[in-house]
Amino acid sequence: MDMQKMNKDDLLALKAAAEQALADYRSRGLQLNMARGKPCTEQLDLCASIHETLTKFKDEDGADVRNYGNLVGTPECRRLFGQILGVDPSQVLVGGSSSLNMMHFTVGNAYVRGVLDGMTPWHKLDKVKFLCPSPGYDRHFAVTNYFNIENVPVPMLADGPDMDAIEKLVASDPAVKGVWVVPKYSNPSGITFSDEVVRRFAALNPAAEDFRIFWDNAYAVHDLYAEEENRDHLLNIYDELKKNGKEDMVYMFASTSKVTMATGGVGAMAMSPRNFEWIKKNLGVATIGFDRVNQLRHARYIPDMQALDRVMQGHAAILRPKFETVLSSLERELADLNCCSWSKPRGGYFVSFFAPKGTAKRIVALCKEAGVVLTGAGATYPYGNDPDDSNIRIAPSFPPLSELEQAMEVFCWSVKLAAAEKALS
Ligand SMILES: Cc1ncc(COP(=O)(O)O)c(C=O)c1O
Repeated sequence: MDMQKMNKDDLLALKAAAEQALADYRSRGLQLNMARGKPCTEQLDLCASIHETLTKFKDEDGADVRNYGNLVGTPECRRLFGQILGVDPSQVLVGGSSSLNMMHFTVGNAYVRGVLDGMTPWHKLDKVKFLCPSPGYDRHFAVTNYFNIENVPVPMLADGPDMDAIEKLVASDPAVKGVWVVPKYSNPSGITFSDEVVRRFAALNPAAEDFRIFWDNAYAVHDLYAEEENRDHLLNIYDELKKNGKEDMVYMFASTSKVTMATGGVGAMAMSPRNFEWIKKNLGVATIGFDRVNQLRHARYIPDMQALDRVMQGHAAILRPKFETVLSSLERELADLNCCSWSKPRGGYFVSFFAPKGTAKRIVALCKEAGVVLTGAGATYPYGNDPDDSNIRIAPSFPPLSELEQAMEVFCWSVKLAAAEKALS
């Protein structure tokens, strides 16, 4: 029944039923976790034989990958990430296991040295701001926060960030030096930016000449469905920027953390030739070279996009039922109440849930009491501050299906209780 139409007795009955159900779950001593978007063990086992691929250590160029001598990555790995990110391999810098680490380096480099030779390092400025489409990825916000950069929230809409807001802020304020985005199967909203949104990003006219888009394509190949028509497609930002002569404006990132191994994968970044030379020069102070043994292991195991798709469909077969469990629980238990909304992603790692305003913290606390850990309410906003106290990020990948079903029961009862309490107050 629609919550708006419930009278006081209906609400009291709903509250009592939810309290009873949650008391029952509390007595069971559950220990369930839907907090972080980690691959489950079954997913990690998909690529177990990756370690058998490496019997010879020479890359395509004949270089021994066990030795020093190549900062930018093995040619075969650069080619693979070039295909994932839609750029020429010469623009790809393949790093260690973490793309987040490369983002941290890139912000840090701009902070200490400037985005290009001769440009003012950000630490010399009174104020530096980054736009943070929210809900978004908490670790992005943590990186800029670490460098004392002000994180400015911008709303996320159905087809990407609010571009009216972004265009205005970027054009009017030279302190705005960057924007964080996850353009495909976004964390947490699961959406993929429309062509129009990508084109508007590529046409931005920043007041700051050293403004950069941090295009974190972490879920570039993470489709839940095999059929072409059930996959999202993202327009190539680099091609669009190039048409406008603005290709220095973007850094693109990706990794195999959710392809092979979350901590044993390969991260990469891609950028314009000018940006590439500057990043390479400065990165060369921090390291002589990344783990090219692992890069070669990956390139042997995943030599091309067809091989990559086969691996990703293995992940999809494990993840799809989990996402469908979450979505069918929400639909069955909460749709009729007509007081919440949630994303229905076709890829990525998250379902983004919007509870009645002012109840997200309460829901997360109720779940915790009943043994279900969720990402903290507010975590998806800069400074942990969701102005509506409404968004909750659900991560279905890690728990086994049977646990996920129970966890979703607890979640839905917690939503009902918090919503009834709110309506009664
Ligand atoms: C949007 C996004 N970017 C980056 C990462 C981390 O990537 P990596 O493991 O390559 O550092 C994650 C992990 O959850 C993510 O969701």
